Amino acid sequence: MSQKIYAAIAGVGHYAPEKVMTNADLEKMVDTSDEWIRTRTGIRERRIAAANETTSSMGLAAARMALERAGTAPADVEAIYVATCTPDMIFPSTACLIQAALGASRAYGFDISSACAGFMMALDAAAGAIESGRVKTALVIGAEKLSVVTDWTSRNTCVLFGDGAGAVVLKASDRPGIRSSLLGVDGNQADFLSIPAGGCKMPASEETIRNHLHAIHMAGRETFKIAVNTMMEAAQEAISRAGLTVEDIDLMVPHQANMRIVEAVAKRLGEGVMEKVFLNLDRYGNTSAASIPLALSEAFAAGKVKSGDKILMVAFGGGLSWGGSVVEWL
Ligand code: COA
Repeated sequence: MSQKIYAAIAGVGHYAPEKVMTNADLEKMVDTSDEWIRTRTGIRERRIAAANETTSSMGLAAARMALERAGTAPADVEAIYVATCTPDMIFPSTACLIQAALGASRAYGFDISSACAGFMMALDAAAGAIESGRVKTALVIGAEKLSVVTDWTSRNTCVLFGDGAGAVVLKASDRPGIRSSLLGVDGNQADFLSIPAGGCKMPASEETIRNHLHAIHMAGRETFKIAVNTMMEAAQEAISRAGLTVEDIDLMVPHQANMRIVEAVAKRLGEGVMEKVFLNLDRYGNTSAASIPLALSEAFAAGKVKSGDKILMVAFGGGLSWGGSVVEWL
């Protein structure tokens, strides 16, 4: 009988654009205050990509760091999964652009569109390809230039989002790194969080541009409640499918949308969970598909990830869509 193949994270990297936009900067643009943004969201500042920076250039930088930390050459990468809702263009996929720039000559690749849950979807797909034996080394990237789909005249949304990228190298292993993964969607509430125009249903026109329909629209209060419940359930299920209890979790890296969501989820998961949460949303805001790998990479750089650690990742976003996973750091 052939031996079972598992998938494990071999390296993690990130990239954040240089330009910082603070809450004070936003006070000059819309009717808001640093105090409101900090107390309602936990965000102090976010990064804004330069005009010549794109989702693929940021994803590439994150991928290079992840490959270097994994000691893996681009030529060894067989598959590139890019989670993004802000691709450089509709096609070719961002994965193709990164493949060429990296010189990953043996790799296939494609983009995954699942908003803030995109990285969890991509990680699951890559892990599946590895566990099946078809792929030995994959790059899983989450990258976003959300500043181009932000309505800078709407205080309801413009204070929330930022740009960035994160990436992991996933490799075949004889021990389970990805110990569990579960995904879900509920398209019945698709209009709670969306970019309405730019697809075939509502192509770009003077009207769509005038009405900011190429920007993120969100029913914040409604989404908030569902986010808390769904992330909590996904986290519990991911822990249980990994054969673990919440006490076994060493580090929690949640999607970084709102401090109050993270606190509510952590509190419901159990006592002491909040102390295990890694947060960088105060410095980056919500970077959608980039959020979890960007946070994981910073947690790694800060020495908060060690061999044997069980890491809980959980995300929720537009779709509605969500995902949870427990990863053991080998
Ligand atoms: N500055 C000042 N006031 C603001 C504001 C801002 N940037 N944005 C909204 N407000 C006002 C609202 O207009 C409202 O005023 P009103 O009561 O006079 O109508 C008031 O603040 C409260 O608005 P509300 O939407 O109830 O605030 P909230 O506490 O729910 O916080 C969000 C708003 C968006 C931060 C919060 O709902 C949220 O994080 N939602 C979910 C985000 C999420 O998880 N997304 C999914 C993952 S991508």
